Amino acid sequence: MKFTWSNTTRVIFGVGEFARLGEEAAKLGKRALVVTGKTSAKKTGLVDRAVELLEKSGVEAIVFDDIEPNPRSTTVDRAAAVVKETGCDFVIGLGGGSPMDSAKAIAVVSACGGSIWDYILSKPGKKVRTVDAALPIVTVPTLAATGSEANGGAVISNWELHEKAALIHPLMYPRFSIVDPGLTVTVSPEYTGDGGIDIISHVLESYCSSTAYTPLQDRFSEGVIRTVMEHLPRAMANGNDVEARTHLSWASTVALSGMVNGGRPGGFPLHWMEHVVSAHYDISHGRGLAILMPHLMRHTAEKKPDKYVQFARNVFFADVAEQKPAVAAEAGISQFERWMKSCGVYSTLSQANISSDKFGTMADDVIRIYGYGKDYIDNARPLYRQDIEQIYRMAL
Ligand code: NZQ
Ligand code: ZN
Repeated sequence: MKFTWSNTTRVIFGVGEFARLGEEAAKLGKRALVVTGKTSAKKTGLVDRAVELLEKSGVEAIVFDDIEPNPRSTTVDRAAAVVKETGCDFVIGLGGGSPMDSAKAIAVVSACGGSIWDYILSKPGKKVRTVDAALPIVTVPTLAATGSEANGGAVISNWELHEKAALIHPLMYPRFSIVDPGLTVTVSPEYTGDGGIDIISHVLESYCSSTAYTPLQDRFSEGVIRTVMEHLPRAMANGNDVEARTHLSWASTVALSGMVNGGRPGGFPLHWMEHVVSAHYDISHGRGLAILMPHLMRHTAEKKPDKYVQFARNVFFADVAEQKPAVAAEAGISQFERWMKSCGVYSTLSQANISSDKFGTMADDVIRIYGYGKDYIDNARPLYRQDIEQIYRMAL
């Protein structure tokens, strides 16, 4: 097992910790671009509170409140121009993954120039600009989902090309993140559900896609999955259940912080297939994952059942000792699928108004963008174009 793990984000966690935004931000700069979504953070009064906290600590705040879900490269470039015009010296992402990722991307373009799409490798062999600087970044998640608050990645969409891809760089780790679960109580049951599935997928992807022997990482993963499964239904039923919100926020922050997936180089096939769905249809990330997940699991388990047998045993405590691997694997997958249905998350592409029209193009896109020059994407069972198209069809 070999991997490098170097997470440089200081995480300030707990209900009420948002109040520390000003004093902590004042250590980073004098003028902040506060990057947020179009509606929620204004409606809940969070933007006003952020500005007040910053100004009390002597930090001038310029608000950019135009980030859409699945943030566009053009919006990032527009915000970077605002940084240039106003002389902001750091960037604060306040919101879900979309504003947080945008803040990171804006910090890169502001420091290195050009357009964010120049930095995102979406075509094999395409010459990209490389990140060699970024303004200091702060994130404040208002939704438990992506884990952007504790990693160095940003996922950006190019709506003209219908491509969505990630930029990952050590300079893109937030200097600090304030993870205050109290900020998530206003998230709707639907987005809470999508977020919970996203958290699970962040630890389940490489659990299933990697064939490396990683017992500790697997136990971390199983712990994150069980924590989400216990608390997600509570938070969906009662948004004000702060205890449930707290454990979802912590699971979100831990899941994609690097340690859980370290040493499992199996790829992120579910995310890659979902990113292509949302690049064409602009659906919520977690919703796309929920729809595709059981189908990818079944397709992979057909050839590589072992990890799914472990999933059945360690996550659902299923007694599978006497069962054939295929039966044992299916026991875990179907219990998981039943649990997702009981939460009410989306389960078919049709429910999201997606037809089979573009499946061929989408399968091509997955290979082109995420095959990294190969004619398949990495998975325990490598996925070729026809496998990807088949999984989309299974999910229809
Ligand atoms: O857009 P606003 O008005 O802010 O409302 C948002 C949006 O409608 C709303 N929301 C957020 N916090 C809320 C709230 N509503 C009420 N109360 C609150 N406290 O929720 C909706 C979804 O927001 P968004 O930021 O788009 O959601 P999410 O956190 O799921 O982020 C998704 C984006 O992150 C990327 C995804 O691909 C997608 O672009 N990801 C980023 C990752 C990373 N950086 O590590 C990893 C992930 O796998 C993911 O790919
Ligand atoms: Zn995700």
